[in-house]
Amino acid sequence: MICDNMKISISGVPATGKTEISKLLSRKLNYNLISINELAEELDAFVGYDKERESRILDMDRLEKEIKKLKYNIILEGHTAHLFHVDIVIVLRCNPEVLKKRLEKRYPSNPLKVRENLEAEILGVITSETVMKNKKVYEIDTSEKSVEKNVNDILKILDGNTEDFKVGKIDWLEKYFDWIELG
Ligand SMILES: Nc1ncnc2c1ncn2[C@@H]1O[C@H](COP(=O)(O)OP(=O)(O)OP(=O)(O)O)[C@@H](O)[C@H]1O
Ligand SMILES: [Mg+2]
Repeated sequence: MICDNMKISISGVPATGKTEISKLLSRKLNYNLISINELAEELDAFVGYDKERESRILDMDRLEKEIKKLKYNIILEGHTAHLFHVDIVIVLRCNPEVLKKRLEKRYPSNPLKVRENLEAEILGVITSETVMKNKKVYEIDTSEKSVEKNVNDILKILDGNTEDFKVGKIDWLEKYFDWIELG
């Protein structure tokens, strides 16, 4: 599966481990690592500010154009990385109980962000968005494993051993549906 000018996206809701896993993966594969957030900062590619979520809104068209220009092997990481034109998307999933703790640590003063991201994880929003764009996508469960083991799972996928990582294997909905605030 590995070829020239290969672009791999590592996506997932915040605190699933994208940055840590991507750093190790890029070292192992000897790929360039691009963080979407850092690229947006460098280019000042923002179109506004979301007050409630305390975050800047990315200029996705500008970022897509810049990423298209890159003609070498790259790993793109960020919670919007699955929305760009790439060869393969790996979505990092995390058990909601584990994720809740990580999100509360990350956003101690923003319960809205914790709740929204937990809901997105339970519903599998990132994977749905990726599937709708007809991309090659696999999922790994990062809840219980070390960064090293997660990276090994991604290497397995890239080697073509995809069976355990097909979409549909991870499903938090049945157990955690009640966690979702309706309405
Ligand atoms: N496999 C893992 N096991 C346990 N903890 C982990 C694991 N991977 C990451 N973490 C921890 O979870 C937190 C989030 O990790 P990281 O910053 O890599 O996530 P992220 O997906 O890049 O988040 P963000 O979208 O906010 O940038 C960190 O505190 C990190 O140490
Ligand atoms: Mg990160």
